[in-house]
Amino acid sequence: MAKAKRYLNFIGGKWVEPSTGKYAENRNPADTGDLIGEFPASAAGDVAQAVKSAEQAFARWRLVPAPRRGELLLKVGDILVRRKEEIAQLMTREMGKIIKETRGDVQEGIDTAYYTSGEGRRLFGQTLPAELPNKFAMSIRQPVGVCGMITPWNFPMAIPTWKLFPAILCGNTCVIKPATLTPASVALLMEVFEEASIPAGVVNMVCGSGSAVGNALVNHPAINRISFTGSVEVGRKLAERCGANMKRLSLELGGKNAQIVMEDADLELAVEGALWGAFGTTGQRCTATSRLIVHQQVHDEVLAMLAERANKLKIGNGLDESVEMGPAVSEEQRQTVLEYIRIGKDEDKAKLVCGGKALTEGEYAKGYFLQPTIFDQVKPGMRIAQEEIFGPVLSVITIKSLEEAIQVLNDTEFGLSSSIYTRDVNRAFQAIRDIEAGITYINGPTIGAEVQLPFGGVKNTGNGHREAGTVVYDFYTEWKSVYVDYSGRLQKAQIDTESVG
Ligand code: UN1
Repeated sequence: MAKAKRYLNFIGGKWVEPSTGKYAENRNPADTGDLIGEFPASAAGDVAQAVKSAEQAFARWRLVPAPRRGELLLKVGDILVRRKEEIAQLMTREMGKIIKETRGDVQEGIDTAYYTSGEGRRLFGQTLPAELPNKFAMSIRQPVGVCGMITPWNFPMAIPTWKLFPAILCGNTCVIKPATLTPASVALLMEVFEEASIPAGVVNMVCGSGSAVGNALVNHPAINRISFTGSVEVGRKLAERCGANMKRLSLELGGKNAQIVMEDADLELAVEGALWGAFGTTGQRCTATSRLIVHQQVHDEVLAMLAERANKLKIGNGLDESVEMGPAVSEEQRQTVLEYIRIGKDEDKAKLVCGGKALTEGEYAKGYFLQPTIFDQVKPGMRIAQEEIFGPVLSVITIKSLEEAIQVLNDTEFGLSSSIYTRDVNRAFQAIRDIEAGITYINGPTIGAEVQLPFGGVKNTGNGHREAGTVVYDFYTEWKSVYVDYSGRLQKAQIDTESVG
């Protein structure tokens, strides 16, 4: 058997070994015999080295005109286009989602590159009237310095690009810690930066565990911003630590997203949306549909259609173009999902309509496969209706009115994505107004956000920040208000108002 490829950290434009000399294996979740490579198990010292490189690079990078920085990101986008298939193939091997979706994941990175590159010629500030004569007032954006990114395994390309691209466009430099389950995809992104001639030290990658590398990033005094996507549990800890250190933190945490199906909906469309939302990416999206809130009049019909389609989904290795759902990302993740299925059946006494089991026979024995699972007769307060499962499990809840549907939808600690299928424009707008979530889709599933709009959620889904769109630039810059007095004399604001004219 060929020796596993050994990946290194990317620091100061060079591929360097971790100070620990230790590496961890990473395997294909669809075929555990397939070794992706060995990845650095780094320590705080490696983070310190990366932050130092980032600080040094910042001194020059912040002075590069933003349109020039944007042009480099355009180049990054072009290289991603050229290497899209190669990255997608590796990503499917690395995290298991089907090849169509990993292509989509890279495409989201490409979209972010092109969108962000244009921002290099905007990055708007404001000019405002000053209250005194011969005085000019404006606000400008300034970079903040070194930013730390801690990224998840479910979107190994899109999410790092949501964080890195706007950060560097603004003139910051970065250190990223990729998820331990998906460092290879992020290593390819570093190769892309290298190929695009992004100056050394502008983006650095340190691989390793959250406890060693993640903590070191959060504790490092030279880091100004931390952007994290992951669990509420970790997010809460980071918030405490960053709060104590006055570090600004952007959190993108869990979801318990729901799709409402009203009795006037196009049911075929609603079922198709629910299937894609619930079982796409094996349900491992922050935006995945994990509750289906269905009007009682169409409940039986919707459920029958849904179960029939779910039972027919082709499950397997995502590199096979005909496969529709890949494995769970790890055995641990599969066990978590199976535990929730047990809770649904035993503790919650919901009705299991389809799925419910791990797939372990034949080819499936090689990976962490499980069946798409649907529970019916779920009550809004049940654990399977409240807690994020992050797997292919859909809980169906029956309602009698739009008001009840929205109330049930809102009845969770999360508020990321949401959806309603209805042909009634009045109901659609009522839902837009009353649903508590960062994203609402009308006649579309809960997944599929585009990069030119803000991405994020309310309640425990985050801490008020958003990624993507134009608002992300507020996170990666500091505002500076500038007053230019060209009167040649001392003018006192709030006091010399009399002297006007
Ligand atoms: C995530 O699950 O964390 O909207 C990101 C979507 C994708 C991004 C998901 N564009 O489903």
